[in-house]
Amino acid sequence: MQGSLKLVFAVAIAGCASVDAPEPEVDLSADLGEQETGLRWITLGADALETAQLAMDERQGGRVLAPVQLAANAVILAYDAADLPALSELMHVRHNRCGGFIVHDSLADAQLSLRAARDAVDTLAVSYTLNNAAAVNGMLATLQVTRIAKMITDLSAYRNRYYTSTYGTQSSDFIFNQWKAIAAGRTDIIVERFTHTWAQKSIILTIPGSTLASEVVIMGGHQDSIASGGATAIAPGADDDASGIATLTEVLRAMIAKNYRPQRTIKLMAYAAEEVGLRGSAAIASNFQSRGVNVVGVVQFDMTNYKGSTKDIWLMQDYTNAAQNTFLQNLITTYVGATYGVDSCGYGCSDHASWHSRGYAASMPFESAMSQYNPNIHTSNDRISVSGNSATHALKFARLGVAYAAELAKGTIQ
Ligand code: BES
Ligand code: ZN
Repeated sequence: MQGSLKLVFAVAIAGCASVDAPEPEVDLSADLGEQETGLRWITLGADALETAQLAMDERQGGRVLAPVQLAANAVILAYDAADLPALSELMHVRHNRCGGFIVHDSLADAQLSLRAARDAVDTLAVSYTLNNAAAVNGMLATLQVTRIAKMITDLSAYRNRYYTSTYGTQSSDFIFNQWKAIAAGRTDIIVERFTHTWAQKSIILTIPGSTLASEVVIMGGHQDSIASGGATAIAPGADDDASGIATLTEVLRAMIAKNYRPQRTIKLMAYAAEEVGLRGSAAIASNFQSRGVNVVGVVQFDMTNYKGSTKDIWLMQDYTNAAQNTFLQNLITTYVGATYGVDSCGYGCSDHASWHSRGYAASMPFESAMSQYNPNIHTSNDRISVSGNSATHALKFARLGVAYAAELAKGTIQ
């Protein structure tokens, strides 16, 4: 089993191009004969990454894929050899895919393989693993949908949260005070105002990491709202983006309720002035980059409470990091209990783009497919009543937020 094991599964599959085969019954738990076990690395075409993940989701006890490195069109995954037959079978039979993969005994070997293919290999800022279920599940159990709804209602009670209006200043102070109050029992947590060249301030809450404090995980949303008429308009912005701020606030409550102590530093951000060109996040990302802050991951919650599509959570593919997006898919499957799809904004539609364009790994889990988002945003009718005065959809994103924090920043609860 050891030594020069290199199997090219794809070439062994006949009729691979067929797309009309009926979905077969595949017994994923079947005894496949004497199996090898142990850590392997596979190189896989990036276009087959999602298919590979779907295959593993089907397998009882299947391991979660953990992308190690990404190149332009290929990815290296850490894999248990025992799972390779199921992966091969499902990729080629059940999913009718020809996404051939190559198995390597060592990471160095896999990297060499990619280099040989003349792909640029970028080492990820962090490796994605799912091994902190106790912390995730402990915090998940504390989430309350009614508190998310209350925060959305409170934020959308301001006439607007426009970046230059007095309401926009008041609502910024409200978020600051809410986050301060929630974290009041924790002397290690600080809540700060980030001052801009306009009135509205961004709010940044920091939970210092224990053992990897220099590595920073950022979870954000935008606090401002907009509608025709600017500073005097009625712009409740319940979905866009009180829902994101309420989602983050409930994640914070869960962290505090369980006395969560992350290994990496976590920062929650309520960005000012997103609606006028991502200006708050642009200033913060620029500031962080110039200070050399080691941001290992960014997630943006912008519009989480309108269920416009059959699938629950949509991962925007543009202005985002493919490896982190796969990590989020794994988190959704493992912890959220929701369905996901992939789509694209087609432009830098929210604050994740500010981080992405400065080279940081960013993701944007969104409420619907792009063609089915809440049609009331940017109007006086962006109210929680549109979502039945409930935050059931946003709760899924809070669950994802908790999982993201505890599996990327790691650490313990009590
Ligand atoms: N929440 C929206 C972005 C959005 C809207 C994403 C609909 C997906 C579907 C955000 O607050 C916004 O309005 N962004 C601006 C762009 C920004 C650069 C001013 C937009 O989309 O026009
Ligand atoms: Zn928005």
